[in-house]
Amino acid sequence: MKDFKLSQRLLDLPPYLFAEIDRQKKQLREQGVAFIDLSIGDPDIPAPAPIVETLSRAANVKENQKYALDQGKYELRKTIKEWFAKRFNVTLNENTEILPLIGSKEGLVHFPLAFVNKGDYVIIPNPGYPGYRGAAIFAGAKLYEMPLRETNFFLPDLKKIPASVRNKAKIIYVNYPNNPTTALAPDDFLKDLISFCLKYGIICAYDNAYSEIYFSNKPKSIFEIDGAREIAVEFHSLSKTFCMTGFRIGWACGNEHLIKGLLKVKTNIDSGIFGAIQEAGINALTNEGAYCTTLRATIKERRDFFVEHLKQKNFGTVYADSTFYVWAKLPRAFKSSIEFSKYLIAQKRIIATPGVGFGKYGEGFIRFALTLDKGIIQNAIDLL
Ligand SMILES: Cc1ncc(COP(=O)(O)O)c(C=O)c1O
Repeated sequence: MKDFKLSQRLLDLPPYLFAEIDRQKKQLREQGVAFIDLSIGDPDIPAPAPIVETLSRAANVKENQKYALDQGKYELRKTIKEWFAKRFNVTLNENTEILPLIGSKEGLVHFPLAFVNKGDYVIIPNPGYPGYRGAAIFAGAKLYEMPLRETNFFLPDLKKIPASVRNKAKIIYVNYPNNPTTALAPDDFLKDLISFCLKYGIICAYDNAYSEIYFSNKPKSIFEIDGAREIAVEFHSLSKTFCMTGFRIGWACGNEHLIKGLLKVKTNIDSGIFGAIQEAGINALTNEGAYCTTLRATIKERRDFFVEHLKQKNFGTVYADSTFYVWAKLPRAFKSSIEFSKYLIAQKRIIATPGVGFGKYGEGFIRFALTLDKGIIQNAIDLL
């Protein structure tokens, strides 16, 4: 066969972090080696039964078996509107300001195609969710990475973004509750962020995928901040909130013009979300209160146990302020997060994610995902 060289945009991407970890897991499985997997944010808890029953029932409806060629069922958009109003006290227009997605990743990654021209800057957090990098590269953007430093509570220092970047930036990605650092964003930071975006004409793409995975302070929507409606789009996910990662459903909401741009990209790429999954999403959001309280209690129990014991195991500072991740400084004997994660696999049969996989400023940290039963987490602690 002719040697078809990969496109430059694919060559420009670093290897996708989780794909590499998956390769290592596959290798262990092939060798018949048992291991504890604390690497990926994919909840072990089944999606609530009524959600699955709704999906199964709705799959039999002929209308749902056809292309879903619109911007999501009206009923779903109306349910999202009601959920948003109840949760954040923000009223969105269900026809112009809400767009269901095939998982939030789909929207996050496609979004720059709507607004970024070759050579524009896209600003991303480092460490950060790897999808933002791909999003920027696919759109032909130049990348500017804002360090999230421990000394600044894992918030970016917007004042340090150089004039040459902020004057040519189209989008800034921001994510709180934050993966991987678990940090939450205080109100003052959110206000500064929106002032910054308004001043320099930069779209704020606010990733709120973990809005419901918190322990004390309830995370905000960016639309609770004055001025955000002019300049922001916010991404939500049902994946983590309802343990529905495989279903693929989320939404984008906010500024009408930004939503319209994303819809235009999507109409050229996909053909909608399977109708039965949309109905499952309606069920999830309608019964949200009961599901989420239980989920948060389960995660908190795991977190409290894991963090308490990890602190006694030579790790440096341990962060676990939100999400189901734990972001821990490496034990003093280790300098490199890759070296430490290799050691964990080889010596302890534990898989965790090296901080550097989220960007160079993640070096010195390791991320554990508490997406396993407490008994297994206890076994991991015994091994560590
Ligand atoms: C910060 C963040 N945003 C978005 C996503 C994508 O979630 P989904 O596409 O399942 O909605 C993830 C998944 O891990 C994430 O960690």
